[in-house]
Amino acid sequence: MYTFEIIVGTTLGSAEYVADHLTEKLIDQGFQVNIHLDPQLKNLPINKNNPWIICTATHGAGDYPDNIAPLAQQLAQDRPDLSNVRYSIVALGSKSYDQFCNAGHMIDRQLAQLNGEKVAITLEICTLETPIPEDAIDIWYPEWAKNWL
Ligand SMILES: Cc1cc2nc3c(=O)[nH]c(=O)nc-3n(C[C@H](O)[C@H](O)[C@H](O)COP(=O)(O)O)c2cc1C
Repeated sequence: MYTFEIIVGTTLGSAEYVADHLTEKLIDQGFQVNIHLDPQLKNLPINKNNPWIICTATHGAGDYPDNIAPLAQQLAQDRPDLSNVRYSIVALGSKSYDQFCNAGHMIDRQLAQLNGEKVAITLEICTLETPIPEDAIDIWYPEWAKNWL
């Protein structure tokens, strides 16, 4: 049985609400979950039984939220081999900005370069189109969850 490591990147809290909602769904299905609001590479298991879910907003001009930026720096510096890490990306953003969901796409590229194995395409949530972003999780979850059964 998997323990999911949900890595949150947030400034205003929406990505954390989305992570909490996803956690409820995973726990209902019998999985275990660790939420990382101050994600640090040293606290993240590199293990097939601990898939990573990166749930991050984009801030500034296509930038990482401050709380997840250190993880991106640690990945760039330490360059761990992530071939045992399966990961998925949930990216929050707004299409009113040029670089829609760019933080999610940046960390996706980083994890792929480090040999992480991506499971499912990135879920992009536009908060203009989906004012309650948790609603997008409800639609996405059933198909995505089949990867872990
Ligand atoms: C100052 C600011 C800058 C933003 N920049 C971007 C951006 O470059 N690209 C994008 O897709 N969304 C951008 N957004 C939208 C946020 O990613 C979106 O509102 C998200 O839901 C915020 O999540 P959070 O509450 O977890 O921080 C920006 C929002 C703010 C307030």
